[in-house]
Amino acid sequence: MKVLIVGGGGREHAIAWKVAQSKRVDKIYCAPGNAGIAEYAECVNIGAMEFDKLLAFAKDNSIDLTIIGMDDPLVGGIVDVFEAEGLRVFGPRRNAAILEGSKAFSKDLMKKYNIPSAGYETFTSAEEAMKFLETSKYPTVLKADGLALGKGVLICNTKQEAMDGVKSIMLDKQFGSAGNTLVVEEFMTGREVSVLSFVDGDTIKIMTSAQDHKRAKDGDQGLNTGGMGTFSPSPFYTEEVDAFCNKYVYQASVDAMKSEGRTFKGIIFFGLMLTSEGPKVLEYNARFGDPETQVVLPRMINDIVDVFEACIDGKLADIELEFEDNAAVCVVLASDGYPEHYEKGFEITGFENFKNKEGYYVFHAGSKFDEEGKIVTNGGRVLGVTAKGANLKEARANAYEATKLIHFDNKYMRNDIGKAIDEA
Ligand code: AMP
Ligand code: GLY
Repeated sequence: MKVLIVGGGGREHAIAWKVAQSKRVDKIYCAPGNAGIAEYAECVNIGAMEFDKLLAFAKDNSIDLTIIGMDDPLVGGIVDVFEAEGLRVFGPRRNAAILEGSKAFSKDLMKKYNIPSAGYETFTSAEEAMKFLETSKYPTVLKADGLALGKGVLICNTKQEAMDGVKSIMLDKQFGSAGNTLVVEEFMTGREVSVLSFVDGDTIKIMTSAQDHKRAKDGDQGLNTGGMGTFSPSPFYTEEVDAFCNKYVYQASVDAMKSEGRTFKGIIFFGLMLTSEGPKVLEYNARFGDPETQVVLPRMINDIVDVFEACIDGKLADIELEFEDNAAVCVVLASDGYPEHYEKGFEITGFENFKNKEGYYVFHAGSKFDEEGKIVTNGGRVLGVTAKGANLKEARANAYEATKLIHFDNKYMRNDIGKAIDEA
């Protein structure tokens, strides 16, 4: 088979690595890819939103399966564009990707189908939102309705912060049209868990749990980022939590989408908060998580191409997902200054230390080849070092040891990824 992967971050590197393990695949392309993905795939210089060019490429190169890694093209309807031309593509159609594309939609869905989540109100007028926030309980949470590069959520501790937030989201349009509608949500406390699943429209199969670290600095301080590290499985995702979610969240979400005439095929990523009242859904994503994928896929035993195809063909019920009974930790190496100002273009060295090093992976996020063919930093999050271990503590020690093998100027990482493991 010939496979095309759309995206170019650490998540897509992990997907490309996993697809490359499949016996069924002879050739992988990735658009646009990155310097690490180039080890498994031919990188094609087409952006993820250039649907016409991607479609033409897939046709010209007789691509058998296209896998969409990113949220923007999914929400923009890339799957519909490919399907209309009879091409096989993995991911939800536009009318189902709205599960991630509109927070107001997902909140209304959960309410209608009794899927546990935080209480909320939706506003299309800044004036109305401000009036409501006058008498709200604090902290409270403001969410821009649409996609905002993971930055559209504001936790407001005071009324003043909330007013400023409404102004920046709805009036100043900090996130563009994503802020035309605002969701004001009840603030919840508890541990967060990410759960990734495959869905074929009717059947849902859970992969394994993971936990992300969104803040830039140790101790969950600093600004929100795309994710500074992950571990899998989460020790807080107990059998009890799993049973609750199987009963009230997972299948219920898939069935709700079907009932709405928005049959969902692809990945549903459940962002859960384990509250004192039980698990509640924080958010849905319609794609693999980044950097959750970098700890989940290295533990997956199945041929992932079989699973992608089963989802497309509505045959997921025939597949038994298998994961190794071990653990993985990913530590992101970033450019100092991320998520604000940082420099790019520094040479990255040390990759040779990972050749044939079983259970260790370097997944590139922001890297490229310079004119001399050297791999240089090209983003805020540069790469993620993933290591497996018999258990979480061993995986964490292995991952931190391995971070010492990669060098570049202004290298920055959190030193407390997986600290929660000690509290379990
Ligand atoms: P989201 O993009 O919806 O996952 O929000 C980003 C982050 O904001 C989450 O990972 C949580 O840490 C936090 N968050 C979102 N909604 C709430 C909420 N209702 N209560 C507390 N924290 C929240
Ligand atoms: N790691 C969070 C996300 O992918 O949205």
